[in-house]
Amino acid sequence: MRLLNDLLDYIVGQYSLANLSLGDLEALVEHCQGAELVVELGTQMGNTTRLLSMLAGQVVSVDVFDKLSLIEDPDQSETYRKDYDLHPHDLAIVSGRLADRRNIRLVQDRTDLAAKTAQIPDKSVDVLIIDADHSYTGAKKDYTAWLPKVAIGGTILFHDAVSGFPGVVRLCDELAESPDVFEIGARSCRTSFRTFKKCKAKESR
Ligand SMILES: C[S@@+](CC[C@H](N)C(=O)[O-])C[C@H]1O[C@@H](n2cnc3c(N)ncnc32)[C@H](O)[C@@H]1O
Repeated sequence: MRLLNDLLDYIVGQYSLANLSLGDLEALVEHCQGAELVVELGTQMGNTTRLLSMLAGQVVSVDVFDKLSLIEDPDQSETYRKDYDLHPHDLAIVSGRLADRRNIRLVQDRTDLAAKTAQIPDKSVDVLIIDADHSYTGAKKDYTAWLPKVAIGGTILFHDAVSGFPGVVRLCDELAESPDVFEIGARSCRTSFRTFKKCKAKESR
């Protein structure tokens, strides 16, 4: 069984969804299957976006793509400049890769700003996936900007909530104590996602 999992991890990693482990795939299927609207922050090459479009009714995915100058934080800018050089993901390239999927809308903007510019109604997002700026400040900006867009009972997934990304872990630890969301699911080494549900507390206060 271990070998089978390792083999599947290898195949998934090498050939299709390079940024996801098998456990990540399971988490996405669990939370996104049947969702009406999924928003993904951080598209990169659109590999996960394609998978999401097979699970959900509508997918909006946001990235700066080739407009890297929109990223203000110098460390993050440097990180994603290198990532871009490795996997060039101009908007035109990614749009072309996903052209056969009719239920995807790509938005080229900084992820926190897109909460306003993407014209998504409040409380309409069933699943929000945060996977763009992995610094504490950047991930928190994304969470804060997008929380009003998430439906009550909607799901928020943070990717890369593991020791290599201490800012994401710190934010998730803080949110575990927040009245606005509650964490669901046992933490597991099979997935780097941490998952929260938006609760009513904020509405009733
Ligand atoms: C880890 S990759 C996303 C991987 C993608 N979700 C997947 O599973 O294949 C992060 C992406 O976020 C983008 N990004 C980073 N910070 C951003 C920001 N503040 N606004 C918009 N895009 C950002 C980068 O350009 C990069 O493509």
